[in-house]
Amino acid sequence: MKVFITGASSGIGEALATEYAIRYNNSDTIIGLVARRSEHLLKIQTSLQETYQVKCTIYPLDVRNSAALATASENFMQQHGTPNVVVACAGVSRGTLTEYQADIAAFQAVMDINVMGLVHTFQPFIAAMKVSAKSGETAQLVGIASVAGIRGLPGAGAYSASKAAAISYLESLRVEMAANNIAVTTIAPGYIRTPMTDVNQYKMPFLMDANIAAAKFVNAIESKRRFVVIPWQMGWVVRLMRFVPSFLWDWAMKNAPHKPRLDWDWL
Ligand SMILES: NC(=O)c1ccc[n+]([C@@H]2O[C@H](COP(=O)([O-])OP(=O)(O)OC[C@H]3O[C@@H](n4cnc5c(N)ncnc54)[C@H](OP(=O)(O)O)[C@@H]3O)[C@@H](O)[C@H]2O)c1
Repeated sequence: MKVFITGASSGIGEALATEYAIRYNNSDTIIGLVARRSEHLLKIQTSLQETYQVKCTIYPLDVRNSAALATASENFMQQHGTPNVVVACAGVSRGTLTEYQADIAAFQAVMDINVMGLVHTFQPFIAAMKVSAKSGETAQLVGIASVAGIRGLPGAGAYSASKAAAISYLESLRVEMAANNIAVTTIAPGYIRTPMTDVNQYKMPFLMDANIAAAKFVNAIESKRRFVVIPWQMGWVVRLMRFVPSFLWDWAMKNAPHKPRLDWDWL
């Protein structure tokens, strides 16, 4: 099994890398780990290699940098061959409000990371995956979207818009790739316990631990699900969200809790 995962330095991405290492605990398993914080990647690489039989290669980079991802993918494929699964998990979530001029840069960063990051991650692998899929190898692209992309959440204009764009983009890609036998899976998580949600001060329904979520994500990937909401209870919330008329949505969201705006030094 050969997997390439972005956003692998914490949370869901780290849990996915661990789940693949547990499931494919042998020396043929190669896991590419991508994120900006190299010290986190190094720790995860050492821990996975020492605990399991797998081999990890790390790529400290920013997913906004398409050239860096092109170089990383080339390096991965030269060393290990074409990956079976590429998971674009890197993402950021911050409170934003359009009325603040300072938030324009934040909107840009969230869109660049959460949307263009997917394109930058998948693009360099597609030509090689077409060839490997033809020879009967598993070839699959996986994008981590969010339930927040189903309807616009107040205080999260950038995040909701980025995840809505991710859902539509992944659907286009799925149809485009079908003729080449490259499966595309969109995962829309509800609330998963990670550093991203640890800062939330409000109640998070159906909050799920990252390791439990990762096992369910990999089950969904291996079943070649097209679109899946995890945890499943959130799937029913999503069905409801899709059909609630706008006036009811506005009423329900009027006092909804949301992430506070923060300083943008993380950009
Ligand atoms: N947790 C949830 O409840 C939840 C719900 C719905 C969707 N999601 C989605 O799941 C994905 C993972 O989130 P998480 O909860 O695991 O959050 P997290 O623990 O904060 O992890 C985010 C990951 O993305 C990486 N990342 C962020 N910006 C990056 C950039 N510019 N370049 C490269 N890597 C970058 C981070 O690594 P570095 O900082 O080291 O770069 C980190 O590894 C995100 O796409 C998020 O939107 C999460």
